[in-house]
Amino acid sequence: MRDAVRGLPRQLEEGLELAVEPPVSRGAIDSLIVVGMGGSAIGADMLVEWLWDRLEVPVAVLRGERLPRWVGEKTLVVAVSYSGNTRETLTAAASAIEGGHPLVAITSDGRLAELCQDAIPLIRVPGGLPPRAALGYLLSTSARLVEELGLADTSRDVLEGARELQEALPGLAQDADRLAEALEGTLPTVYGHPPFTSVARRWAAQLNENAKLMAWWGELPEGSHNQVEGWSGSLEGGPLAAIFLRDPGESPTVARFMDEVTAVVSREAACHTATAVGETRLGRMLTCVALGDLLSLELAERRGMEPLEVPVIEAIKNARG
Ligand code: PA5
Repeated sequence: MRDAVRGLPRQLEEGLELAVEPPVSRGAIDSLIVVGMGGSAIGADMLVEWLWDRLEVPVAVLRGERLPRWVGEKTLVVAVSYSGNTRETLTAAASAIEGGHPLVAITSDGRLAELCQDAIPLIRVPGGLPPRAALGYLLSTSARLVEELGLADTSRDVLEGARELQEALPGLAQDADRLAEALEGTLPTVYGHPPFTSVARRWAAQLNENAKLMAWWGELPEGSHNQVEGWSGSLEGGPLAAIFLRDPGESPTVARFMDEVTAVVSREAACHTATAVGETRLGRMLTCVALGDLLSLELAERRGMEPLEVPVIEAIKNARG
């Protein structure tokens, strides 16, 4: 799994090469919806936050099987499932076909690949990884598709982000170690402010899946309107901890706000800060993702957990068919 984290920059570069002819011409869609679950959905969340001020049309992420009513003939549906066998994504993809919506699939194999046959454009990423370890492929293939559709230029950012991540990786292992030391024995909540709410979500998911640790995520500023109140009734000195993901590119207003929320929460729980590194927005998001991934692996090791296996998730998937 650590190899997969080290391989993220390469995945990002390789994913950019996996182009597909979109089923619609440039300028022909007025919205895009990405359907996927877990490790196959997070890349789309990141894409939306990274490109929030550049995307030409709304891009939504659906974690579920039912396409919303607003999905119309000018909506491109992008079904992402690394294994290709996730029920929710398959159902949503099938209903896109049934409804006559343009569809692109991103997968390594499975029933999603079968569903596409020759009729649906399919971006096939290399297989053999746990889905959450394929983030680089899933993010950069989506980014390339967005570029092909003329919705935003992305390739240069992806290559730059991959380079910044490659440079930062050696230092991140030590940071992950230090954080793991501080967090051992706690139940962490991870906070991020756009464009880091997707990253906070990724951290919590990686702690859940790799380290088998209950962990939550919160988005700011929304969490400052509800979740922060919950901290005031929490057990003082209890096992809860909060991690604030900080962006060196955040505005002075956001920085002040993050400081204030940290000060409030630190009255109730141990607060930690993880600061992203990098020059570009995507580069900083990626280095912070990698730090969270490494932290989850470090905590998995300390807790004697196997990060590659997710038996509970598999059992639920099998039961649902
Ligand atoms: O990371 C994981 O293993 C999970 O979160 C999966 O991504 C999730 O269960 C969906 O599976 P898939 O990505 O194969 O569609």
